[in-house]
Amino acid sequence: MPKQINILAIESSCDETSAAVVRDGKVLSNEIATQQVHERFGGVVPELASRAHMQNIVPVVDAALTDAGLDKKDISGVAFTQAPGLLGSLLVGACFAKAFAQALNVPLIAVHHMQAHVLAHFIDDSPEFPFLCLTVSGGHTQIVLCRSHLDMEVLGETIDDAAGEAFDKVAKMLGLPYPGGPLVDKYAAMGDPMKFKFPIAEMKGYSFSFSGIKTSVLYFLQANKKMNPDFIEHNLYDICASVQYTIIKTLMTKLKKAAKEHGIKQVGIAGGVSANSGLRKAINETGAELGWKVYIPKFEYCTDNAAMIGITGYYKYLKGNFADMSVSPTARATWQ
Ligand code: KG4
Ligand code: ZN
Repeated sequence: MPKQINILAIESSCDETSAAVVRDGKVLSNEIATQQVHERFGGVVPELASRAHMQNIVPVVDAALTDAGLDKKDISGVAFTQAPGLLGSLLVGACFAKAFAQALNVPLIAVHHMQAHVLAHFIDDSPEFPFLCLTVSGGHTQIVLCRSHLDMEVLGETIDDAAGEAFDKVAKMLGLPYPGGPLVDKYAAMGDPMKFKFPIAEMKGYSFSFSGIKTSVLYFLQANKKMNPDFIEHNLYDICASVQYTIIKTLMTKLKKAAKEHGIKQVGIAGGVSANSGLRKAINETGAELGWKVYIPKFEYCTDNAAMIGITGYYKYLKGNFADMSVSPTARATWQ
C-alpha cells in the first residue's frame, strides 16, 4: 500500500458536478459546480443535467487537483458515485472515473451515494459505533444504523416522497424558485410554526410518508386563495414555519423511536435537508434532553459533494474493496 493514500472522488448523481481529493481520510479539496440551468424549470431536467456534467467535469477535476496541490501521478485510487441518481448524470461521472483510473493504472472504487451521505460525518469527526443517522435529501429519507464504516443497515425509509422533495414541492406551490428547501428554511425562521396545522402521517415502524403533507398543503392553499387571493403573500412566513414544523416533527419522532429501541446515543443527521436550521435545532435540543451525542456535518458536506464520496472511497480502499472495469451505474440501488 502507498505511504499516502490520495483518493480522487467524483460526484455527479444529480445537479452538482463535484470533485474532491481526500488524503488519508482528510479532505484536501472539494470543488462543487452547481448547475443553475434547472432553476427556470422548477426542478432538475435530467438531460440538461447530463450535459452540464459533461461541460463541468474536466474543469472541476482540474480545480480539485490544483487546490489540493496534487499531480495526477500522486493519485492512489479514483472513487465515483455509482448509484443511486439520474442515470445520464451518473454515466458522465462513471465514464470519467473509469478512464482516469485506467489511464493512471490505479484502482476504481464504486460508491453508494446514500452511504457516502452517512460517512460525511467521518470527514471532520469520528462518531463511535453503533451510530444512528437520519439521512434526509431531495431523493431519500432513511434511518440508518451503522455498525462500522461500511456495515450499515437501513432501518426504515420513505414509502413515497422524500423530506427534501416535500420542502421543494411546497415551495413550488408557494411560488418560490427551485430548490425551495433553503428558502422555506429562511422564511420559517420569521414565522409562527403553530399558526397552521398539517397532518403527520402515522406510519408503521421506521417508515416515513411525505405525500400526505404535500396534498394537504395544496388543498389548504387552494381553499384559502379562493377567499383571499393574496393569502400566500400575507402568510408566507407562517406557512413556511408550519410546514417545516410538521416535517421536522415527523422526522424527529421516528429518529427518537429508533434511538430508543436500539439503545443508541450517538445520533446524526445527513443529506441536503440536514442543512435546515430548524432540524439542526431540533436534534440539538432532543440530544440535550435524551443524553445523545449529536453529530451534524459541516454545511458544505450536507448537500451533494465529492468529499463524502472521497471519504467513503478511502474506507473502501483500506479494505481493498475495488470495482471491476465493467461496473456500470444504476439509477436505483439496493443497499450494500
Ligand atoms: O443531498 P442533496 O443535496 O441532494 C440529493 O441527494 O437529493 O439534497 C437536496 C435537498 C433539496 O430537496 C433541497 O431543497 C434540500 O436538500 N435542502 C434543504 C435545505 N438545504 C437543502 N431543505 C430544507 N432546508 C434547507 N436549509
Ligand atoms: Zn445527496
